[in-house]
Amino acid sequence: MPTVPPPYIVRPNTAVLTRGFDPRLSVGSARPAVFRSSTYVFSSPEMAERAFDIALGRATPEAGESIDLIYSRLSHPNAEILEDQIAPLEPCAEAAAVFNSGMAAISTIFLTFCRPGARFIYTTPLYGGTQHLIHQMLEPLGMTGIPVAAGDAHAMTQAIVNCPDCKLIFIESPANPTLVMSDIAAAVEAAHMHPDRPLVCTDNTFMGPVFQHPLTLGADLTVYSATKYLGGFSDMLGGVVMAKNRALIDTLRGTRAILGNILQPDECWLLDSRLPTVSQRMYRQSKNAQRVAEGLAGHPKIARLLYPSLFTDPEQVRIRDAQCSYPGGIVAFELVGGKVAAYNFLRNLHITKNAVSLGGVESLSCHPASTTHSEMSADELAQYGVSDALVRISVGIEDWRDLLAEYLAALDQA
Ligand SMILES: Cc1ncc(COP(=O)(O)O)c(C=O)c1O
Repeated sequence: MPTVPPPYIVRPNTAVLTRGFDPRLSVGSARPAVFRSSTYVFSSPEMAERAFDIALGRATPEAGESIDLIYSRLSHPNAEILEDQIAPLEPCAEAAAVFNSGMAAISTIFLTFCRPGARFIYTTPLYGGTQHLIHQMLEPLGMTGIPVAAGDAHAMTQAIVNCPDCKLIFIESPANPTLVMSDIAAAVEAAHMHPDRPLVCTDNTFMGPVFQHPLTLGADLTVYSATKYLGGFSDMLGGVVMAKNRALIDTLRGTRAILGNILQPDECWLLDSRLPTVSQRMYRQSKNAQRVAEGLAGHPKIARLLYPSLFTDPEQVRIRDAQCSYPGGIVAFELVGGKVAAYNFLRNLHITKNAVSLGGVESLSCHPASTTHSEMSADELAQYGVSDALVRISVGIEDWRDLLAEYLAALDQA
């Protein structure tokens, strides 16, 4: 069957299975083939020239024009298929670009839209790798990062208003690992009034593409570690950026071609096969996590439980209700008894493996302060609420009753 022709406009769960792939281009195979070639044969020298003119920005393609592929570092059929199929999962997305990890996607955004002398604003806490990128790479290159506490919409607006040469606002919401949510629409409003019109980018790894849609809230870019829920099986690395404005994606693809961090054909094929089930997996994980969190609430060995449906802070409740449709699959809590209790708890888990990462069908648990967030100073950890007593659980699709039973048993041992 050819791709669904216009004028049929289909919903995301249909589009993800029907658009962007024409079986006639893969000898009739019902699912995409893998095209591992590193280079592509031009149909004529003129078409080669045209392809280079377009790739290097010297010309823009005509509507419906077919352009020869050049070389797989720029793009390849599996990236094109994946980028076409993933875009409808993010409402308002016009285009997507795929990268070989979430960090590759995030680094490419910063290196494309911020230059030496530029300022950018970011929410705290952030995933440890993004924090490393900012402090160890971007700041030494002459960029200035301005931190704003996640969830403080007033501080975010003030930071934007008072930030000359502001090029980018990077919001990780919910924040890893504290799940504090930031008001994306408020940041967008302030960015639109700023004379530099900084781009607003949301790291939507924890909630998207199913439960939170930053582009509908006005963000310019949404970025994912596809290693997590999109990939869903803890067996691949990937990154995705989606945008309302196709030109932003074209610009990112230009940087990607030089950095050489496009997602490889086999990985594109694998991620493509995971897209049709991402919403089913995420709903199951969210429902499981909610039951686990509710079953742990009030436990005498838990000092603080962090889970969106159990938020009590009115501002966090407001942001959650405004921008998330489900609470998601991550539960975090602080144990009474600090680091020793946290380690004992992790030691006594058997179904839930002690590993970093999240979003896979299997449950994983970790101690952020000593692993994913261990590059933060003691002051930063204290300020951002990443204490030694905190454990983070990524709830999978196992039977939630078995998970809850093992957490209650491990709490007894802690
Ligand atoms: C919120 C968030 N963003 C980005 C990343 C980086 O993704 P990757 O490991 O695919 O580079 C992670 C990884 O854990 C993450 O949790």
